[in-house]
Amino acid sequence: MVGKVDVILGAQWGDEGKGKVVDVVAPEYAVIARFQGGPNAGHTLIFDGKKHVLHTIPSGVFRNNVWNLVGNGVVIDPVTFMQEVQHLEEVGVDVRSRLLISRRAHLILPTHRALDAASEADKGAGKIGSTLKGIGPTYMDKTGRNGLRVGDLEQPDFHERYRALVAKHERLFAIHDHQPEWRSREQEWLKAVEAMRGFNLVDSEHWLHEQLNAGRSVMAEGAQGTLLDIDFGTYPFVTSSNTISAGACIGLGVGPSMIGKVIGIFKAYCTRVGSGPFPTELHDDTGEAIRKAGNEFGSTTGRPRRCGWLDLPALRYAVMINGVTELAMMKADVLSGMDRVRVCTGYRSGGKIRESFPFELANALEPVYADLKGWPTLDAAQPLPPECEAYIAFIEQAVGVPVRIVSVGPDRTATLVRDAAPVTR
Ligand code: GDP
Ligand code: IMO
Ligand code: MG
Repeated sequence: MVGKVDVILGAQWGDEGKGKVVDVVAPEYAVIARFQGGPNAGHTLIFDGKKHVLHTIPSGVFRNNVWNLVGNGVVIDPVTFMQEVQHLEEVGVDVRSRLLISRRAHLILPTHRALDAASEADKGAGKIGSTLKGIGPTYMDKTGRNGLRVGDLEQPDFHERYRALVAKHERLFAIHDHQPEWRSREQEWLKAVEAMRGFNLVDSEHWLHEQLNAGRSVMAEGAQGTLLDIDFGTYPFVTSSNTISAGACIGLGVGPSMIGKVIGIFKAYCTRVGSGPFPTELHDDTGEAIRKAGNEFGSTTGRPRRCGWLDLPALRYAVMINGVTELAMMKADVLSGMDRVRVCTGYRSGGKIRESFPFELANALEPVYADLKGWPTLDAAQPLPPECEAYIAFIEQAVGVPVRIVSVGPDRTATLVRDAAPVTR
């Protein structure tokens, strides 16, 4: 039997808890593969009382007998990558023996980061709120057919190609009002590039199909979330890659017929970091209480995350676009102790209520809420309290797919698997 590629992806604006779920399910898979994004991602794993944040390396890296693949759709900053490797080696993980990197993955240059910063500074108040990791400019060079790829490291003329791209970027700086300094980063970058040559650089599409043909199963680990997708997110306040399930096909080189389960990860509420519309955002004490209880500060940038109630039209949209087959609800513990929890069931605009996700999501859209009962403290060793079950049933009914995993704390072990019944809408 040929293996399948299951997909785990964010169903909101990122930071849903993808890293935690991937770590939990990783032992069931032979390969964990990242398919898009880059060091803008921050995936947190907590076990044995320790916290680890991964940016480029897949979240299966702590599990024995699991291959971790950085796929062709990913963009890699050699400096961040080597820092991650160093952290993992310090904590005793043998990264090199279980990590593969696609030759087709693109490289983030110091000048890409500087161009990202220049573009954001020019935009002023209209900025995207980018993580400033150089993601946008690197994907621009990829689609503009100027990029440098991991496989280019093995070519004798790598340094000339690097210089040529930098020269192009230097001309580009002229169109910006701001010219961030980048030269001080160059030596470190070139050193990290040398170090990357010592890793397992592979033709990942061939390698992955060999695994699948041998009957092994693959988990594709998404970064960011559906509402940050370049095509279907809240454009222009999005990232520069396809974060949705179709992105796994492109970013790994597998056909749609190879995709098995599509697991959508969402928080019991919503968060967003960076700019852009967020109709259910809470600017009051409740929003502050959620931020505090959920420790809602960015894993990559440390920025406070904006918090608000769960948005069902947005979640339904994510289920539709990704072909989600099951959901995982994260951070249910964060809402514990509230008398009442709210979920947005539609948006009111111009006297009408719409339940579908619009072309232009705007803060002017007034959310229509359903109020549900809150629940007491949650414990992974106990069944979920009826109020929490009722909240989940309400969501399942609204979006049409079952919630199979419920996460009740940041630790690997604080995870419940529900025997969810099929949902009929
Ligand atoms: P990712 O980018 O989707 O992997 O998510 P992040 O790691 O950026 O953000 C999720 C945050 O929530 C991390 O700090 C996790 O440790 C934490 N977390 C994950 N699941 C739970 C949960 O069920 N409860 C609580 N309280 N925290 C969680
Ligand atoms: P993970 O994988 C949350 C957001 C940024 C900004 C926009 C564009 O941890 O869920 P970029 O640096 O990609 O040009 O930024 O996207 N963003 C994320 N928000 N989680 C992430 O990744 C994100 N990666 C990018 O805040 O609004
Ligand atoms: Mg994150």
